[in-house]
Amino acid sequence: MACNRERFETDVIITVFGASGDLAKKKTFPALFGLFREGYLHESTKIFGFARSKLTGSELRQRIEPHLEKPNGKQDDEKVEQFFKLIQYHEGGAYDEDQGYLELLKEFQKVEAQKNITHPQRLYYLALPPSVFLSVAEQIKKILYTTVGVQRVIVEKPFGHDLESARALQNSLSPLFTEDEIYRIDHYLGKEMVKNLLQLRFGNTFLNASWNKDFIQSIQVTFKEPFGTEGRGGYFDSIGIVRDVMQNHLLQILTLLTMERPVSFDPEDVRDEKVKVLKAMAPIDHNDILIGQYGKSEDGSKPAYLDDETVQPNSKCVTYCAMSFKIENERWDGVPVVMRAGKALNEAKVEIRIQYKPAAPGVFRHIPNNELVIRVQPDASVYMKMNAKTPGLSTTTQVTDLDLTYSTRFKDFWIPQAYEVLIRDALLGDHSNFVRDDELEVSWSLFTPFLNYIESPDAPAPELYPYGSRGPSGFKEYMMKHGYKFQDNINYSWPIISPGEETH
Ligand code: BG6
Repeated sequence: MACNRERFETDVIITVFGASGDLAKKKTFPALFGLFREGYLHESTKIFGFARSKLTGSELRQRIEPHLEKPNGKQDDEKVEQFFKLIQYHEGGAYDEDQGYLELLKEFQKVEAQKNITHPQRLYYLALPPSVFLSVAEQIKKILYTTVGVQRVIVEKPFGHDLESARALQNSLSPLFTEDEIYRIDHYLGKEMVKNLLQLRFGNTFLNASWNKDFIQSIQVTFKEPFGTEGRGGYFDSIGIVRDVMQNHLLQILTLLTMERPVSFDPEDVRDEKVKVLKAMAPIDHNDILIGQYGKSEDGSKPAYLDDETVQPNSKCVTYCAMSFKIENERWDGVPVVMRAGKALNEAKVEIRIQYKPAAPGVFRHIPNNELVIRVQPDASVYMKMNAKTPGLSTTTQVTDLDLTYSTRFKDFWIPQAYEVLIRDALLGDHSNFVRDDELEVSWSLFTPFLNYIESPDAPAPELYPYGSRGPSGFKEYMMKHGYKFQDNINYSWPIISPGEETH
């Protein structure tokens, strides 16, 4: 079927299901506001909030408003007022009963009749827990779906719990909506630095030429959060860090980082390449992992994972994991790729670190390896650690960097939040930054055997690491085993180097 790339510009009806929930309040509505504030959501848009809760429009507003990002931290009352005029709350009753949807349909028809709309453009955003997700999708199809216009459905993770459940979910969804109508959000695909990967890799000849096993020694994709499950333990305990961020967010980064050059930037061409590289990944070796669970902080002020009353007593849930990937193709054969993620660590950081092979010895002694770092957050930046002569009469070598820090280089740019980017893409009918069904199939095939193992009684218990630390004690050895050379003997600090800090 041909893709529908119709751009939704004016007179769009957006319905947020689960409008009273956390995701809607913290992400969906603020993203809609951000788009509206910046002029990317037309004032003719109508937004319905739909949920089971008994709420008035002003109560919904009270929940959402504290999360809106007002320009320069200032109240932009006029924009906020205008935005809330677009929103109407609809109490829907039980999610699997027709009544609420029939009433909502009447509201749609009222709006469309008033505006003489003969070709409805409707976007449904499912900010819902998995337990009610399918009932709502079925009701949308049964009651709200119209064959005369264009409809799009944005769905949120989790897209299943393992391969089997992901297939079951897909089998239930596919009779309802075409792949073209479904937009599966992985919000990491909306982050500026993740979107930047294509340009960085393929728009720079020197990077493109060295992006392979001949030049690259090791690759790391790292996710660190300085807080624990705080209030989300009940959800997290059945999920663990691997499902929460690795099988989706970090794997998306890894595929964009390692895929071949797509024929074009057309969404299907890009997604074809992502699927290909996923298929080239060898099964994850569960004997080659590092898993941990956070305990109390060393000073006792921060709780252990197991102190959370919403988690199972003695839970073996993994809150830190490092694993390695082998990509069995010509480009990457033999290059170690480590993915690691942890909660309750020493800092907040998501970054990609590519360590190059060392320069040939001879002229140089112990010269540090080049490293390209793409920092997704915080402080979006790209920097290349490189060697240069120390300025002045000295002939020693100094580690320095080529530094592209977004906040200094692109000062006055509006860098949209991930959800703003993705909702806008869905309005434009652009699937590039959404997850395709076959991508899900391959990624679950890769992760399911691994998850089955770490959740089986045979798996070793996760090592306890203190809240606020760098993770399990063996993390350094793990990185070194996978080709990463620690260069901490070098007095290098990014982004500023003080005079006199020489490498040798
Ligand atoms: C979510 C996970 O998908 O991503 C959370 O469920 C995690 O546990 C979050 O904290 C990280 O997103 P961001 O945008 O804050 O890096």
